[in-house]
Amino acid sequence: MKKLYIKTYGCQMNEYDSDKMADVLHACDGMAQTDKIEEADVILFNTCSIREKAEEKVFSDLGRVRLLKLANPNLLIGVGGCVASQEGDAIIKRAPYVDVVFGPQTLHRLPELINARRKSGRSQVDISFPEIEKFDHLPTPVLSQVEGLQTASAFVAIMEGCSKYCTFCVVPYTRGEEVSRPLADVMKDVQALTDQGVREVTLIGQNVNAYQGAADDEDTVDFAYLLQAISALPQIERIRYSTSHPRDMSQRLIDVYATTPKLVSHLHLPVQSGSDRILAAMKRGHTALEYKSIIRRVRAVRPDICITSDFIVGFPGETDQDFELTLKLIDEIGFDNSFSYLYSPRPGTPAAEMKDDTPHEVKAARLKRLQDRIAQQEDAVAQSMLGSVQRVLVEGISKKDGLEMAGRTDNNRVINFRGSPGMIGRFLDVRVTQVVRHTLRGELAGKTA
Ligand code: SAM
Ligand code: F3S
Repeated sequence: MKKLYIKTYGCQMNEYDSDKMADVLHACDGMAQTDKIEEADVILFNTCSIREKAEEKVFSDLGRVRLLKLANPNLLIGVGGCVASQEGDAIIKRAPYVDVVFGPQTLHRLPELINARRKSGRSQVDISFPEIEKFDHLPTPVLSQVEGLQTASAFVAIMEGCSKYCTFCVVPYTRGEEVSRPLADVMKDVQALTDQGVREVTLIGQNVNAYQGAADDEDTVDFAYLLQAISALPQIERIRYSTSHPRDMSQRLIDVYATTPKLVSHLHLPVQSGSDRILAAMKRGHTALEYKSIIRRVRAVRPDICITSDFIVGFPGETDQDFELTLKLIDEIGFDNSFSYLYSPRPGTPAAEMKDDTPHEVKAARLKRLQDRIAQQEDAVAQSMLGSVQRVLVEGISKKDGLEMAGRTDNNRVINFRGSPGMIGRFLDVRVTQVVRHTLRGELAGKTA
């Protein structure tokens, strides 16, 4: 049996795509995944170009596998994902030992590309955007093929791409514009997963709340509708989603928080900055006040909801005053564990052309202040959970202690507690007994205890 090694860089969407690459090659060539790169017949790099560092990493990793190829000329090396989409043929020019280059929208064509490479002896490049074709050609999700999913939780991609064109971001260029999967296709995938024991789904896409899926009557349905349709499935106990955009946070969607308890009390809503001047330069399409208004309305119907976000520090032209406005927004909202990055200029994006004269040390010091502030808030959230009983989906054995289980709370916190592997995949009530830094420890509560 041929062995496949995949290295995934970047986001959840890439993790999902890597699982799909494994599914496609398993269905077509019977390939099995390995985590030992030296024994692989096919090595795939599923790349990310969101920031410069992620991109550089791919080329240094490629340099290393070149040696493996010298030792084994039959080894096939593929580069997929956003760096592939952006660079295309240039990857083959820079690393001629790469056999196939494919984009996020053409991963389902991998078997054909590999065959064409073997037959012709020439490297193959396909980074086109054939709309929704990818999803039509993917096998029905099978849990055993999905990396690390012994649990009852699975990702389901509901849309692809992004049409927002924030001035700093490469995604609309590498993944194409927003395209939603038809409602029936999404429901079919969710059903197939529940038939295999899945009880929690995470709906993923670059902006899931921009979802507009075709329905049977040739009409389209929005994200609020989709959430309710999935919630109506009795086997589904929890629904998560990621990522969403403030502009698509409709009142209909906010109302779903009031009516749908299966929708978790965690919302990841990227804001990037608290300065209206910077938000406009980023072309985010909303102000800080509009963002606060969304959070206020969500909290009105779900008071205990945890809000997490993405922040970019050091965007071109960001002054101390702009940065203080971001800290002010953070203080006003109170976030849980969030992502924050130094701005990274991306070739081909409008922001890369903007004047950027803030020294790196100033930006780094701002990032540190922001991260310290969020860490304090994260700790406050953890402390507020102390003594409470949380409904937890047990995900696996704790990484730190083999006698402990690790589970995830509704508000997306990991909690470790004494248990047994037989609990994996079950929902249990766990009392929070300790907060060690930001990590929670607990004990079984209620009937299960
Ligand atoms: N849909 C999301 C939204 O509403 O903004 C964004 C998804 S984006 C793939 C993930 C995060 O990467 C962004 O929220 C942003 O914080 C970060 N990011 C994107 N481009 C960046 C850049 N050029 N420099 C630094 N961070 C960047
Ligand atoms: Fe990127 Fe903005 Fe879309 S951050 S993924 S262009 S919403």
